[in-house]
Order: sequence, then C-alpha cells, then structure tokens
Amino acid sequence: MLNERIAAAARVHRTLSGLPETDCVARRPGHCSTHLDATAPSIVLPPRRGLGSEALDVVLARRRSVHRFAGPLAVAELSDVLGHACGAQQRRLTRAGGEHVFMTAPSAGGLASIDVCVVDLAGSAVPAGVYRYERIRHELNLFRAAPRVPEFAALLTQPEFVQFTTTLVILVARMDRTMGKYPLRHYRTLHVDAGVVAQNLYLASTAVGTGCCAIAGFHDDAMAELLGTPESAFPVLVVALGRV
Ligand SMILES: Cc1cc2nc3c(=O)[nH]c(=O)nc-3n(C[C@H](O)[C@H](O)[C@H](O)COP(=O)(O)O)c2cc1C
Repeated sequence: MLNERIAAAARVHRTLSGLPETDCVARRPGHCSTHLDATAPSIVLPPRRGLGSEALDVVLARRRSVHRFAGPLAVAELSDVLGHACGAQQRRLTRAGGEHVFMTAPSAGGLASIDVCVVDLAGSAVPAGVYRYERIRHELNLFRAAPRVPEFAALLTQPEFVQFTTTLVILVARMDRTMGKYPLRHYRTLHVDAGVVAQNLYLASTAVGTGCCAIAGFHDDAMAELLGTPESAFPVLVVALGRV
C-alpha cells in the first residue's frame, strides 16, 4: 500500500518535472539518507549562538535573496544558520514516557519529511563533502565525496551561484515518510514543508548577518543522482548560503 502510494507520487512528480517515466528505483538503489552508512564520519557542529538583537520586523524588512555572495560560510555561521532554521527546539516527555523533540521548522504531521543535505564544495566550513544534517544531534554526516565545482555548477541552471559561494543546502522531500502517514494528496505538504525550512534559512541567515538564495533552477535527475536519492525521495529546493 505504502509502496503503491510512493510509486503513484513518484509518477506525478516525474510527470510534473517533465521527466520520462523510468524505473529510478532500479537506477538509484538505496542511497537515500535512510540508508546512510552508520560508519560514515560525522562532524559535531559547534552549538548555535544567539541570533543577535534585531527584532523580527527588522530582520523581515532586511531579508533579501543574495545572488553574489562575498564568499562561503565558516563553520560557526553554518551552525548558527542550520541550528536556528531547522534544528531541534524543545524536548517534551510523551505520555508513554518517551521523549518528543520539536523542531524550529514546523512540518505537516510533525514528520521529518525534509532531509537537509549540506554541500561544501571547497572545504570552507567543513571538509569538502555532501552531508546530511542530523537535525536533532546538530551533526553533519558525510555520505558522498564533494563533486568538483564545475560538476556541481552543471547541475544548476544558474551556474554562477557557485562562483560566489561553495556552501549550499539541498532540501530533499521524503515521500516515504509523508506517505507512510498520509494519503497521496500530501505530495503538496512536502513542498510546503520545504518552503517553511527555506524561509527559516532566509530569516536565520539575515539575522546572523549572512545571506542566502533559494534556487529552484536545477536539473532534477542529475541532482538526485548526485545525492543518490531513490524513487521515494526527491530534491525539492537548493538554497545557496554565503557571506554578504
Ligand atoms: C521557491 C523559490 C525558488 C527560487 N528559485 C530561484 C532561482 O532558481 N534562481 C534565482 O536566482 N532566484 C530564485 N529565487 C529567489 C527569487 O527570485 C526571489 O525571492 C525574488 O526575486 C524576490 O526577491 P527577494 O527574495 O530578495 O525578496 C527563488 C525563491 C523562492 C522562494
């Protein structure tokens, strides 16, 4: 039942993305972050710092999409932006005696429907690589070697983004998580969940004095290939982060 739902959503996704219907499960077997190698090196990010003293109305008024960055982020800035935009927020005991961790970014059904992947192309914030941001532990788990800058640039319809920064986030929609709880119509909430994270990235970046730009212009299959996502997940949005 779940697999049928995922297959149906994947068909919708490929149709809407103008991609041919192919058996991408066979093409990209099991490299989704659900299948991350447990022995992959992880980097514990420094604790996120306060966001500064600007009131929200000032941050909202200053927020802008940045197209020409002054350079990539350092690890402390990356930690601040990720931690505030999509890290853990509050821990509460459940009735069953367990613990539930709430996140800074809301999501439909409280599901971990968006994987936050971080690409450092040049080793500026962390050693070059493709990482999954482990949102509760505030860690980056390496799962791929970094592509070369021209290789990554070729995935974007505006390759010039990586002339100015080499720190990027890729938001990956997890149909397996959402479709495990909800019917097919929740294909739409995956996009909303990604939008929520994107707006938090914008606001956190602005508040810490860095910048970002959402990038919907990328080649779907090639980006999925880079991340090794199976049919049950798809990259929904890239967000370039950098200094201003
Ligand atoms: C979902 C989304 C996708 C976007 N994709 C791109 C993109 O591919 N390339 C780009 O240059 N800007 C992109 N942007 C940035 C918009 O162009 C920008 O938000 C808009 O021009 C308004 O400018 P502002 O963000 O400074 O207010 C995107 C923004 C959003 C929210």
